[in-house]
Amino acid sequence: MITGASSGIGEAFARALARRGHALLLIARREERLAALAAELRARHGVRVETLAADLASDEGLARAAAAVGATDGLTLLVNNAGFGTRGYFHAGALDEQERMHRLHVMAPVRLTHAALNVMIPRGEGGVIQVASVAAFARSSYNASYCATKSWMAVFTEGLHLELREMGSPVRVQALCPGFTYSEFHDVLGIDRKTIASWLWMSADAVVEESLRGLARGRWLVIPGLVYRWFAAVVSKLPVRLRLAVEARNPQRKARAGGVPITR
Ligand SMILES: NC(=O)c1ccc[n+]([C@@H]2O[C@H](COP(=O)([O-])OP(=O)(O)OC[C@H]3O[C@@H](n4cnc5c(N)ncnc54)[C@H](OP(=O)(O)O)[C@@H]3O)[C@@H](O)[C@H]2O)c1
Repeated sequence: MITGASSGIGEAFARALARRGHALLLIARREERLAALAAELRARHGVRVETLAADLASDEGLARAAAAVGATDGLTLLVNNAGFGTRGYFHAGALDEQERMHRLHVMAPVRLTHAALNVMIPRGEGGVIQVASVAAFARSSYNASYCATKSWMAVFTEGLHLELREMGSPVRVQALCPGFTYSEFHDVLGIDRKTIASWLWMSADAVVEESLRGLARGRWLVIPGLVYRWFAAVVSKLPVRLRLAVEARNPQRKARAGGVPITR
């Protein structure tokens, strides 16, 4: 079961898992994109693919998705991937946008993970991947809610990992923390990719392969790409004053900061 499967990293998860012969339940808002992907994967790999059009930032959409978790026979993997970014100062953006982000990045994973673990733990198998971000290790202006919600995902996952280990459960959890990844994420935000150095970009396929390799090895934290593993290691060890000084000097971030949030 993959949320945010209509594009980017979620779509790459769907392709990678269909290639491995798994039946899929794909969730996102754009029904026609899901239907086209499902038809292609059925034809190409002969797997069962169902779709659920739902806005996971809404109570109604999230309730339908959570019900689907309970009703999915033999659910072996939940990927909480749906997400988006915003631009500009927290106070200047629409409050509704900020609330939607917290619902999508926090409440949707809470509810879907709770439902999934209650199916997986008694059965003694399964895994949950939370698609967080390297932003989980940063605290930056213009991205206050994004960094905070992605940090939450990583901390939540670490806690679940500890609980599962303590219980001796074979169920696995993973916080996947990618850096800049080719997807529709920056198009939705209205950010020109050329403003970000080309060597920082990874393909969604490469991110997903590292995640699935990590899951097979039981890794609770996967940061794809050496440059981002280095970034996370350094940033999380910097004294707060030094981190703030580095952040304040980031000219690209300042250039990107203007403008209003753009959403689908
Ligand atoms: N791209 C990057 O550089 C990057 C880096 C680190 C982490 N991430 C994280 O990776 C995840 C996937 O993003 P992406 O890069 O693949 O971007 P993307 O191509 O824009 O994909 C985002 C997905 O989330 C879905 N989505 C958005 N709002 C939704 C809602 N309210 N309800 C249900 N689905 C919703 C979108 O589908 P619909 O519009 O059809 O609903 C789409 O399938 C996000 O959590 C993002 O924060 C991305």
